[in-house]
Amino acid sequence: MMISVIGGGYVGLVSSVCFAELGHSVNLVEIDEEKTEAINAAIPCMHEKGLEELLLKYVGTRLKARSDYSCVAETDISFLCVGTPSSGDGSPDLTMIESACRMIGTSLDGRVGRHTIVVKSTVPPGTTENRLVPLVMGSSNKMLSEMGFAVNPEFLREGLAIQDFLMPDRIVIGSSDKAAGDAVEAAYRGLDLPIIRTTMATAEMIKYASNAFLAAKISFSNEIGNICKRLGIDAYDVLRCVGMDHRIGPHFLNAGVGFGGSCFPKDVAALISLAEGLGESTSMLRAIMDVNERQPFKIIELLEQRAGDLMGKRIAVLGLAFKNDTDDIRDSRSIPVIRELKRRGALVAAYDPQAIRNMRKVINGIDYCNSAAEALRMADACLVMTEWPEFGELDDEFDLMSSRIIIEGRRVLCCDDSEGICW
Ligand code: UGA
Repeated sequence: MMISVIGGGYVGLVSSVCFAELGHSVNLVEIDEEKTEAINAAIPCMHEKGLEELLLKYVGTRLKARSDYSCVAETDISFLCVGTPSSGDGSPDLTMIESACRMIGTSLDGRVGRHTIVVKSTVPPGTTENRLVPLVMGSSNKMLSEMGFAVNPEFLREGLAIQDFLMPDRIVIGSSDKAAGDAVEAAYRGLDLPIIRTTMATAEMIKYASNAFLAAKISFSNEIGNICKRLGIDAYDVLRCVGMDHRIGPHFLNAGVGFGGSCFPKDVAALISLAEGLGESTSMLRAIMDVNERQPFKIIELLEQRAGDLMGKRIAVLGLAFKNDTDDIRDSRSIPVIRELKRRGALVAAYDPQAIRNMRKVINGIDYCNSAAEALRMADACLVMTEWPEFGELDDEFDLMSSRIIIEGRRVLCCDDSEGICW
C-alpha cells in the first residue's frame, strides 16, 4: 500500500518504519524541516530501541519524509499521528490534529479515487466523527462516498514501541464504514493477532479506558506499597502474589515513585475533563492522579527521615527519564523530586544514560554528571528514579558516597543496603 503518516513524533516515526517493515511505501509528513532532514538521513530524533536500524533499512527506499502535504494525494490511506497535548483544563488540545485534517483535505481536493483517513492520535470519543470528519470534508470538496474514516489507537510503550507495533496484543479499528475498516486492516496484513472492529467512538474510548486502567493499577500498587512500607512489608512480595490471580495479572503492579510520560497523566486528565462535562463522577480517576502526585513527595519524606535536614546536602539522583530505554522526560517523576530537593536547599548531582540533554532544557542549577559514579562521589544520599538496567550493575560505586543512604523509587538495584519507597 501507499501510506501517508502525518507527524514525525514518537508514534508517527515508529509507525512509519513499522509500516515499511510490513512491506508498504510510506510518506512521512513532518512540518518541522529540521526533523524531516534528520529522518531522511536516517538519524532518529529520539532514543528508541530498534528505530535507527529500521530507518537505515528503509529510508530512501520504502520510507521518505517530507515537510509538505502534497504527497498525501499520491497515497491510499493517511494515519494521523500528531500530538494532542493537555490544555489548561485537562481536555486535549486539538489544534494540531484539526490543522492536519484541513491540510489533508486541501491536498486531496481534486484527487480521483477513495482515500481513508485514520486517527491514531488519542482523541476523546466522538471527536473524529463530529469534529475531524467535517474539517476534512470542508477542505477537500470531496463526496463522503469517496472518503473513508477510521480510528486506530496505538498501544506503544516508549522503549518497546517497535516490538509493541509488530507484536501487539490486539489491533483496534473503529471505522465509518466497512471499506474504511478493511483498508486499515490491510495495512497490518502479515501480523497474526486479534483485530477488533468497532465504531470510531468506541475505539477512541478503548484507548482512554486502557491507559486509565493501567494508571489505576500503578496508583493502586503505590497506595498498597505505602501501607506495606509502614508495616515493614515488601510490597513486591505482596503484589507478585496478588498478580498470580489470572483475574488480576502480573503486569503494571510495580510500586514506586509513580507514573510519568506523555500519556497516562494526560489521558487520565482528559477522561476526568470529559466525565465532568457529562456530569459524571470521577472519584476513581481523581484518586489515580492524587496518589501519583503525592508519590514523589513520599521519597523526599523517606530521604529526610534517613538523611535529616537536606539543606546543603549533596543528593545523587540516578535517572531522569520517565522510564528506562527512553530519553523522554515528559512528566518524569524526577522533575518534582529535583524541584523539591532544590527548594529544600539540597545540592543535586544528576545522572541519566540518555535524558540529560532533555532535562537540561527544563531544570538548571544542578550538577549534571557523566556517570553514576560521578554523581555518587561524596553524595550524602542517593535516590534512584528510573529503572535503567545499568543501575542494577552498580556496586563499588556506592562506596564513593560520603554516607551510604540509598533509596530506590524504582526497584532495580542489587545492593543489600538500599531501601525502597514501598519496600
Ligand atoms: C503507555 C502505555 O503503556 C501504552 O500502551 C500507550 O500506548 C502509551 O502510554 C500511549 O498512550 O501512547 P508509555 O507511557 O510509553 O506507554 O510507558 P509505560 O511503560 O506504560 O510506563 C508509564 C509510566 O508508568 C512510567 O513512568 C513507568 O515507570 C510507570 N510504571 C509502569 C510504574 O510505575 N509501574 C509499573 O508497574 C509500570
